[in-house]
Amino acid sequence: MAGATSASRLQAWFSCLAPQRGYSARRNERKRHVSPVAEVEVRAWPIRQTLRAETQESHERLERAALLTELSGGSITLPRYRHYLQRMHAFHAAVDGALMGRLPPAYAVARLNQGTRLASDLHTLGTPTMPVPPPLCRAADALAPSPAAVWGVLYVLEGARLGSQLLLRRNAANAAVCQAHAYIQGEGERTGSFWRDFCVVLEEGATLCDRQAVCDLQALPGAANRTFSLLGDWLEDCP
Ligand code: HEM
Repeated sequence: MAGATSASRLQAWFSCLAPQRGYSARRNERKRHVSPVAEVEVRAWPIRQTLRAETQESHERLERAALLTELSGGSITLPRYRHYLQRMHAFHAAVDGALMGRLPPAYAVARLNQGTRLASDLHTLGTPTMPVPPPLCRAADALAPSPAAVWGVLYVLEGARLGSQLLLRRNAANAAVCQAHAYIQGEGERTGSFWRDFCVVLEEGATLCDRQAVCDLQALPGAANRTFSLLGDWLEDCP
């Protein structure tokens, strides 16, 4: 695992991200994808490296969802930010519910804690949570039919916290987001080290699973791509 020095270098890289830049600069950020420190670590984690390469297009498509584009631009309005939080809350309720009882032993159930943060933000903004539609629950349930697929879904949920750090910085001057940002903030400066810990658990967990002939590693990218698509469709469904 990476030591404290590389952790602080990664955090330093995070803090170098300029809050307001043009779209093409942001695309380059995404294309470059990670800091030089993280690039080294990417090579040490072949399963994550495969997932990253095979989901890049899905990630870019998701980023183009209107709510995320507005958030990414730092100018999302309060009503739209409420919609975003409501939609993310329903998405996590559906996906976390589907994962319960299927989590690999190496993954702490406490990590499925995004719903609490989303509910807290909605409460702060005086906005109710939205009921989770049964079709969304069914679609979430279908994401993870095997132990390998569960790892693919977890990869997406964990990785989302990286992008959120960028969104937090881009909205540092946004009054709507500043009022309630427990979800986007997540683990804040500790995000990089949580991510590295997850990557270690992913490599070990999915590999062990494979040796036991229970886990089909080829199922991971498919499950991850379906998770990106489900969220993209769900966010785009918002009026
Ligand atoms: C506009 C919204 C978003 C932006 C601007 C964004 C941006 C980024 C950036 C810059 C990284 C690389 C960070 C790093 O490696 O240090 C990243 C990684 C990642 N993001 Fe996003 N993201 C966004 C939304 C999301 C969402 C909603 C999800 C999932 C639901 C997601 C899933 C991931 C994953 C899985 C990774 C890790 C890729 C890897 O293995 O390196 N992102 N994102």
